[in-house]
Amino acid sequence: MAEAKKDAIALLKEDHRTVEGLFEQFEKASGEGRKQKLAEQICLELSVHATIEEEIFYPACEGKVDEELLKEAFVEHDGAKMLIADIQAGSGQGDEFFDAKVKVLKEQIEHHVEEEEKRMEGMFSQARKAGLDMDALGEQLARRKAELVATFETSGVPKPELTTMNEAL
Ligand SMILES: [Fe+2]
Ligand SMILES: [Fe+2]
Repeated sequence: MAEAKKDAIALLKEDHRTVEGLFEQFEKASGEGRKQKLAEQICLELSVHATIEEEIFYPACEGKVDEELLKEAFVEHDGAKMLIADIQAGSGQGDEFFDAKVKVLKEQIEHHVEEEEKRMEGMFSQARKAGLDMDALGEQLARRKAELVATFETSGVPKPELTTMNEAL
């Protein structure tokens, strides 16, 4: 059955809930294989989500939402990408910091999601108030997301590219 069309904010919030669910499963999981698989899934979901926001949603917000907030969002994405890159490259639970890295990534994402979803002054509220066409953006986001998921599932998740830092990765 075809999925009902979601507007941009509904789609992005749904991604946030998906990742929160995966982090929760990770915390409860035991066994090396299971945790490794969940960590890979988290990295995939976050990589797709960050890419569609940076390619489509954030540019649409430019000039419409608080500039500092938007800049911070890009930097927060890059901070998360550094951890994602490390988790992807690492030896999973052979790394004594594996659980700590996933936990810190979760905390960073929680903060970032709060900045996007906060009532009134959050990025999504500001974008909605500025009158962005959320239906059209939702379609663009969904199309690009499907493309990226298909590519990442077949060829693996590429090493993240940083947007605001030149030398860190
Ligand atoms: Fe987001
Ligand atoms: Fe974001």
